This record gives sequence, structure tokens and C-alpha cells, in this order.
Amino acid sequence: MGARNAFQIIVFLSCILIFGTMSATSLEVDYYKCKQICPQAEEIVKGVVYNYVSKEPGLGAGLIRMFFHDCFVRGCDASVLLDPSILNPNPEKLAVPNNPSLRGFEVIDDAKSAVENVCPGVVSCADIIAFAARDAAFILGNISYKIPSGRLDGRVSNADEVRKALPAPFHDLTVVKALFAAQGLSTNDVVALSGAHSIGRSHCSSFTNRLYPTIDPTMDEGFGYFLRGKCPENAPVDSVVTQDFVTPTELDSQYYQNVADRKGLFFSDWSLLTSGETASLLNDFRITPGLFEAKFAESMVNMGNIAGSGQGEIRRICRAVNY
Ligand code: HEM
Ligand SMILES: *[C@@H]1O[C@H](CO)[C@@H](O)[C@H](O)[C@H]1NC(C)=O
Repeated sequence: MGARNAFQIIVFLSCILIFGTMSATSLEVDYYKCKQICPQAEEIVKGVVYNYVSKEPGLGAGLIRMFFHDCFVRGCDASVLLDPSILNPNPEKLAVPNNPSLRGFEVIDDAKSAVENVCPGVVSCADIIAFAARDAAFILGNISYKIPSGRLDGRVSNADEVRKALPAPFHDLTVVKALFAAQGLSTNDVVALSGAHSIGRSHCSSFTNRLYPTIDPTMDEGFGYFLRGKCPENAPVDSVVTQDFVTPTELDSQYYQNVADRKGLFFSDWSLLTSGETASLLNDFRITPGLFEAKFAESMVNMGNIAGSGQGEIRRICRAVNY
């Protein structure tokens, strides 16, 4: 028996074990390997994500946020990737929460073409987003987890649905919790996933309502003056600041310290302090080494299980539905 056969048997056995513990969801860990559809898919995506994110960590932040914005609208179905077209002039991509701030689309395009070169027509763009977000979490946070796959790409994408489904920076905890609950996600998920605000950037426009005309009393005053310096009232629309001024490119628990210090950028960040349950979780995440990393991994898997219509296809290119 050759090494290759032995390897296949090992993959096969581990697949049986995973199937044995499978839940109701139709997604499976190592789906493309176990089903022998495209065993190399996850490795190929990882290689492309590494190339981009090692050069520009901000793109890793973009990919993690892209996964969130995809999953919250119609489930994780790559609906966020569709470009405007004559048949659909106003897709999710053009909605205010996505445009122009969402980034990393070129990483997904490249990962998709790299995968298509090896296994054409079988790996969904929705799974590529999920893999890319997972790989970004590893690169930026040494956070590693297996993400179930087998998603389909949707054919529907409406900008109007984005504002209704996604939390906004001015939302309070009640609204944020309700929007997560509508997706089947818990308060634990809210607190764990919010830790993603330990990386990446924000446009000034997402929080200047907390700086002018007066500094929001829920924000640390010194931090407010600091942000005023970065975001003057007449700042150009493309002005940005880093989310976490302490460890800007590390996906880590610094976010929870920042929020405790009232140095989160958004009112929604501060609002985690407004209930006993979230304040206590926040404190746990802030002080317990390894807790954020473990819970973030779990919650990313939970978010990846948000189901859409169940209708879909494997897109040939991620920016357009198949014709
Ligand atoms: C809890 C409710 C949330 C609200 C209100 C919120 C809001 C925002 C806003 C306004 C920005 C700045 C966008 C800009 O102006 O450029 C942002 C950035 C970001 N968000 Fe959230 N977010 C939330 C939850 C999440 C979740 C669940 C994740 C992912 C797990 C996430 C990941 C990120 C990342 C990584 C960035 C930086 C993006 C970049 O650098 O390109 N956020 N968020
Ligand atoms: C990364 O995480 C693993 C455990 O998942 C740990 O053993 C390792 O030391 C970590 N590496 C770094 C550089 O923190």
C-alpha cells in the first residue's frame, strides 16, 4: 500500500468520525476533502490569503468583516460579493454599511480563480469567504478552528436588506442583541465576535457623531480629544483611524480592555457595558488568557452556520450569478 493510499484511508476514517458526530446542519468539516470534490480547496485559499494578509494585515480585517456582512444578510451565501448589474442594479455591496468600507474583494477573486484552476465549478464563493476569514483569524490572532463547508452561492442580493439586518455603530445593546438573536446567535456570540474590533480600521464618519458638537460622555474624554485630532470636522470622507490603538494588527483581547476604558470607537462598543450579563462576559474576556481566542473561534463557526434560502449554485465568478 502506497503512502498516498494510506493517506486517503486516514482522510476517509476521519471523515466517518466527523459524520458520526454531525448535527442537523448540512455543512460538514472538510467537505471538499471528504466528498472528494476538491481536496486541495482549503489549502489553495489559505495560500492566497497568506500572500495578501502578510503584506497588508488590514485586508485580513476586511475578510473577517466580509464574512459577518455576508452571513447576516440571507445567510452565508456570498450575496455580498455580487456587483451591480443591469438586472440587479442595487445589490448588498452598494449599501451604506458595505460601500465603500468593505474590503478584501480582490483576495476572494484571486482565491476563487486559484481554486477554479485546479477544480473548476465545484467550490462555492460562500465557502471561500468562510475559509478566508478563518485563515485571517489565524494570521492575525493565532486563532485556529475548523469551519464546516458545503455552502451554496445565492442568486439574490438587495441593498435594502443590509440596513435591516446589520447592527449599526449607533445602536444600543438591546438592538444589537436582537439583531444577533434574529440570526440564532447568543449574547456570548455578540461579545466574542465584537472582539474583531481589535483589528482593522474605521472611517471617521462611523463615529464622528460622538465627537461633535460635544464629546459623547460615554467616551473617555481624552480619547475623544485624540480622535478629534485624527478626524477633524471637515475631514475628507475617506479619513480612517485604526480600531485598536494599542495592538492595531493583532486579533486579541485588547478590545475588551479598550471598551472597559471607554476607548471603543462606537456607541455599540460602549453599550456592552450596559448590562450585567455583557459587562461580566466582557470582564472575563478581558482578564482570562486564551478565553477570547477560544470563544471567538466557536462564535465564528456559529456565525458560519447561519442558513440562507438553501437555494443556490456554485458561481463561476464570485462577482456575478451564473447565466
Ligand atoms: C456588534 C455590532 C457591530 C457593529 C455595530 C459594527 C460596526 C462596525 C463599523 C461601523 C465599522 C467601521 C467601518 C468603517 O467605517 O470603515 C466596523 C469595522 C469592523 N468590524 Fe464591525 N461591527 C459589529 C460587529 C462586528 C462583527 C460581529 C465582526 C466580525 C466578527 C466585525 C468585524 C469588524 C472588522 C474586522 C472591522 C474592521 C474592518 C476593516 O478594517 O476593513 N464587526 N464595524
Ligand atoms: C498559537 O496557539 C497555539 C495553541 O493553539 C500555541 O501552542 C502557540 O504557542 C501559539 N503561538 C503563538 C505565537 O502565540
